[in-house]
Amino acid sequence: MLLNIENLHVSIGKNKILKGINLKINFGETHVIMGPNGSGKSTLASIIAGKTDYNIIKGKIYFLNKDLLNISTEKRACLGIFLSFQNPVEIPGVSIINFIKTSINSIRKENKLDKMSSKDILSKSKYVSSLLNMEENFIYRFLNDGFSGGEKKRNEIFQMIMLNPIFSILDEIDSGLDIDAIKIIAKGINTYKSIKNSILIITHYKRLLNYINSEYIIHVLYDGKIMISGKKELVNELENKGYNWIKSLNNIKHK
Ligand SMILES: Nc1ncnc2c1ncn2[C@@H]1O[C@H](COP(=O)(O)OP(=O)(O)O)[C@@H](O)[C@H]1O
Ligand SMILES: [Mg+2]
Repeated sequence: MLLNIENLHVSIGKNKILKGINLKINFGETHVIMGPNGSGKSTLASIIAGKTDYNIIKGKIYFLNKDLLNISTEKRACLGIFLSFQNPVEIPGVSIINFIKTSINSIRKENKLDKMSSKDILSKSKYVSSLLNMEENFIYRFLNDGFSGGEKKRNEIFQMIMLNPIFSILDEIDSGLDIDAIKIIAKGINTYKSIKNSILIITHYKRLLNYINSEYIIHVLYDGKIMISGKKELVNELENKGYNWIKSLNNIKHK
């Protein structure tokens, strides 16, 4: 198993945010988390990626059978965990291409692999950026500096494909995008996805999922708990009924 979250309880200050999360993700699987605003989706993503300003009250997270909560954020990236941000940060002065070079080679170094040459990184960057319909000079722009919403999201997918992590979490990668941009994001996800990696997609909408080629399992996070999990059809039920009915579920359901 790639990721195993057991009975995770998390608070921020006095607020309990996650109230007993259980989630298992195997190699090759695609999982989707949906749920109302404020239900804890981004908190869960950040905890897996290693953000530290949370209080883990109880529970465990195992990644590749390692106790993840004892591993630093940087080391988690080296283990192959990638998180795309809901609101990516700007890094003026650092170009996309230099950022990706540094990221790729610091991860390779940590894993005792040889450096990837600048030439190879550049040719892969050109291939991936054209796949994502990015302009040719895009990779020379400063990271997220003046990027439109769509460009920021596309850049996150670019980073994911370039780094090729074994586990990616995409937090609202489709929010605020027009239909054509969503199709490009989905194309990027489909290009990245293989039997060797797993992905966790956090989204509010069915429209991204419509373009995802792989089978997926949906989980609904409601008030800090996964209240129901199911196959594709669950998303239709959510689109029709909204989230209010979820709170009346007494037991966690698996459809
Ligand atoms: N840094 C923080 N300080 C205080 N409260 C926070 C912080 N981050 C998140 N929260 C609270 O945790 C809850 C869950 O937030 P979040 O995980 O962002 O939800 P979602 O991504 O599902 O919309 C919200 O009530 C939010 O206000
Ligand atoms: Mg969020």
